[in-house]
Amino acid sequence: MGLGKIARTFAADLQLSDDAVLYGAASRDLTKAKAFSKHHQSIKYYGSYKELAMDPDIDVIYVATPHPFHVENTLLCLEHGKAVLCEKPMGMDAREVKMMIDKAKSKQLFLMEGMWTRFIPATEKLLELIDEDAIGEVLFIRADFGFKGDGNPASRIYNKQLGGGSLLDIGIYPIYLSLLTLGIPKEINAMARMTETGVDSYCAMLFGYENSARAILESTVEADTPIEAYIYGKMGHIQLHSRFHHSQKISLFKDGQHTEVIKIPYTGNGYVHEIEEVNRCLYNGYTESKKLPHAISLELIKLMDRVKEQIGLFYGNL
Ligand SMILES: NC(=O)c1ccc[n+]([C@@H]2O[C@H](COP(=O)([O-])OP(=O)(O)OC[C@H]3O[C@@H](n4cnc5c(N)ncnc54)[C@H](OP(=O)(O)O)[C@@H]3O)[C@@H](O)[C@H]2O)c1
Repeated sequence: MGLGKIARTFAADLQLSDDAVLYGAASRDLTKAKAFSKHHQSIKYYGSYKELAMDPDIDVIYVATPHPFHVENTLLCLEHGKAVLCEKPMGMDAREVKMMIDKAKSKQLFLMEGMWTRFIPATEKLLELIDEDAIGEVLFIRADFGFKGDGNPASRIYNKQLGGGSLLDIGIYPIYLSLLTLGIPKEINAMARMTETGVDSYCAMLFGYENSARAILESTVEADTPIEAYIYGKMGHIQLHSRFHHSQKISLFKDGQHTEVIKIPYTGNGYVHEIEEVNRCLYNGYTESKKLPHAISLELIKLMDRVKEQIGLFYGNL
């Protein structure tokens, strides 16, 4: 649903999964939907999102529209009895995400946020290393995500009406990593630079935790940054090589010495792993993923709400 950039990449990965069939694609524009279909073995196509939601032969819909439309599009799918994989961020704020979760629960339908990082094999390995105490207790983490945007004020990246800004689009990844490794912070400090369109082009965040652990996080659309993550523990540290949110390489340093480089490739563009999680959940009749439960998506957006408040980023009623 929504045939933009990520929908094309996702559709390619869907073909790599043994358990999934790309059945149909919907655009607000019939000509565009038809062209997409032509590109993908003439799958069914629709000139409106509603027609897709109403097709009785569909099990699950991938919502790939800009963030402000996630709530409306997801509710449309759920209303018509469809399970949903909704792109990140699941909604614009906690109120929207809560509404989506409540609807999925009341309809007893599967709903998951497209936070693909959780299912990337390198992320699984990171969690395994932390779990087996490879670096000891985590003291602090550092993660950045930045790219140089084209500055076009009308584009999804800068346009407030389309949910623009670095925080919601890419800042979500360092924040998600902090949630995975350190949990919910007690204290949040954030500072941003805003664009003329009123969204953040740079955001620096410092999270503090009950046990005095720290997270130093950054997002920006002003420059290409390393997109790396470091997790520092009492006995060593782990580096998630670029791009950390879908890394294929981990370095494990113990006592200041470079001890191990672990290469962990993913399949296709990396989206296959989340696709397979969705399939696993559907086959098992689960309404949420154990690895990426509703509660985590809610905590994630709550963290972003706290950062938004600190930096004075308000989307209002779009
Ligand atoms: N997981 C990831 O790695 C990843 C990567 C990139 C983006 N994303 C997420 O995916 C979502 C879409 O990102 P994208 O880069 O694919 O965006 P995009 O290229 O702009 O595509 C978004 C699509 O949404 C549809 N849409 C519906 N209402 C719209 C409106 N009012 N204005 C513009 N488009 C509208 C359009 O499809 P139709 O014209 O066909 O209706 C459009 O092509 C975002 O929420 C983003 O955070 C995730």
